[in-house]
Amino acid sequence: MPHSTPSRLLRARSYFSAFAVARREYPGFARHFGLACLLVGGVALLNSATPYLLRLAIDAIGQGSRQGASTLVLAFAGGYGVCWSAAASMEWVRSAAAASMLARCEGAFRQAFHARFLRAQYAELLRLDPGTLLSQCNRCATAFGSLTYTLFWAVMPTVIQWVLACAVLARVVDPRYAVVFGALMLLVFGGTIVLSRRTRNAHATIAQAADRLGSYFTERVGFVFDVKMNAALEREEAGSRQFLREYANDVSQGNVRLAMLLAGQALLAGASLTVLTVAAAVLALRGGLSAGDFAMVAGYVVALTSPFTVLASTLSDFKRNEINLRDGLRILDLPEEPDNGPVDFDEASERAVEVCDLALSLHGARALEGVDLVAWRGQLTLLVGPSGGGKSTLVLAMLGLLSPERGRVRILGHDVTGLGSRTVIRAVAAVPQSPLMIAGTVAENLAYGCAQAPSLEDLRQVARDLELDDLGGEPPDVGMALQRHVGVLGREISGGQRQRIAIGRALLRCPRILFLDEATSAIAPEQAERIMPRIRRRVPTMVAIAHGTAGYGDADKVYMIDKGLAFESPARPSRGALSPTR
Ligand SMILES: Nc1ncnc2c1ncn2[C@@H]1O[C@H](COP(=O)(O)OP(=O)(O)OP(=O)(O)O)[C@@H](O)[C@H]1O
Ligand SMILES: [Mg+2]
Repeated sequence: MPHSTPSRLLRARSYFSAFAVARREYPGFARHFGLACLLVGGVALLNSATPYLLRLAIDAIGQGSRQGASTLVLAFAGGYGVCWSAAASMEWVRSAAAASMLARCEGAFRQAFHARFLRAQYAELLRLDPGTLLSQCNRCATAFGSLTYTLFWAVMPTVIQWVLACAVLARVVDPRYAVVFGALMLLVFGGTIVLSRRTRNAHATIAQAADRLGSYFTERVGFVFDVKMNAALEREEAGSRQFLREYANDVSQGNVRLAMLLAGQALLAGASLTVLTVAAAVLALRGGLSAGDFAMVAGYVVALTSPFTVLASTLSDFKRNEINLRDGLRILDLPEEPDNGPVDFDEASERAVEVCDLALSLHGARALEGVDLVAWRGQLTLLVGPSGGGKSTLVLAMLGLLSPERGRVRILGHDVTGLGSRTVIRAVAAVPQSPLMIAGTVAENLAYGCAQAPSLEDLRQVARDLELDDLGGEPPDVGMALQRHVGVLGREISGGQRQRIAIGRALLRCPRILFLDEATSAIAPEQAERIMPRIRRRVPTMVAIAHGTAGYGDADKVYMIDKGLAFESPARPSRGALSPTR
């Protein structure tokens, strides 16, 4: 996504939107935030009191042997030590509180992203590059916490310390010196902000490089097999070497620019420190400042210049996090699929699925041109046709995942056009060609779609129907099969086994209608012939896409889907390939 410069209002709105996300997903956020701010304020107060107590101790020493002076020296010196220790230890308590809040904020954002992916309009998700998306989520998940940290726990205490130091200096040294002190610190602060604004482009360059890296490796890691089988190993390596060289160049250019800007800010802060310390020394030499005053002024100057220097990198990070937050919030702005809740499906409706004049485009290209189709209750309706003809798109539209531009979809007598997949899926189940396997046992994968865990007997029966006992070793054993681990993404079982588990998963949801999109393509024809009748006994109404006849020979109705149009085929499918002729 291009990184344009957003207006200040837009940036503030981004932060408030993010604040709302944190409050929504992290229940104790407001309370924890308040407590952390109190801790930060306490540390700032203690830090401001420390140089003042030092001054009092030194001035009490200067009073020599006057009565009670030694008690005062000891009290102020002790107070100085106690104040410093309390500030230093509270600083760590503050860090621990902030770290725990930041981790929870990160969790809140990851939760929000996940929820949005699950609810986003499917067509919108199809447009996005998963690698870039992952990179943007990773960048944004920590951005809100870091921004909050910078604003409230880095900038705010420094400003408090600055105001308190000016007040103390005006009262106990000289109001003119306090004005100069305040003005010079303001100059450093202003310079820091100006410089940090200039780091935006450097951060944008680094962020874009990180997204490209995420996209590149997400795409590549999944395709080792294809790389090997295309004898493309060396070409891939050369490609990734080139890609990483460009990535390193982009990132180092960005970082050099950042370092130069931050070095400039450190010089500005150092110059102010020198001017203020020399001015205090001159005042002390002229007798305008006591030794205690001088120590206090030097204490304030050092105590404020170092946080101001740190602030420069923190504010520069602020820019980076602003960019990260904005990119992530765009993901949270993805339009949601509608959820219209349950509707009254007419179980007795003879027309299980009815599609009228359905037309839709995918990314500007027409995929369905005006499809008319009826799938009758208790029947197997087969969709066949050439690759790219629009079969999967039609099924996605029937499932409510894609919204048509024209036409209607009725499921069990109910018009579900535009109602979204969450409404449709209450009556139907669907199995894709490459189904999701979760890292767990066969039983866990079978039960994945059930709101309530199925009984062991149900699991065993469905496993037997789908001949999953072959997963239980030799001799085949259904109990052992259910306990078998499938591995990450189901990589420890075969493609046909994955498909049979996915069909079992759909059957356990007891749908009224079952959609199969080449869901048996990896199953041996003779096995498909055996298991399809068992599937149909469980769910008699089925809409299936298939390129072969195995298991689908008794289809009641066949539609040829070609160039986004549906043609009812008069003939039942014959054995062999369902050729796309018409
Ligand atoms: N996400 C997408 N974005 C843009 N166009 C798409 C997208 N998915 C599919 N298409 C296009 O829509 C048309 C229909 O695709 P579809 O996947 O429905 O075909 P299909 O009949 O299922 O083919 P196959 O038998 O190969 O699975 C094709 O021209 C395809 O290139
Ligand atoms: Mg398809």
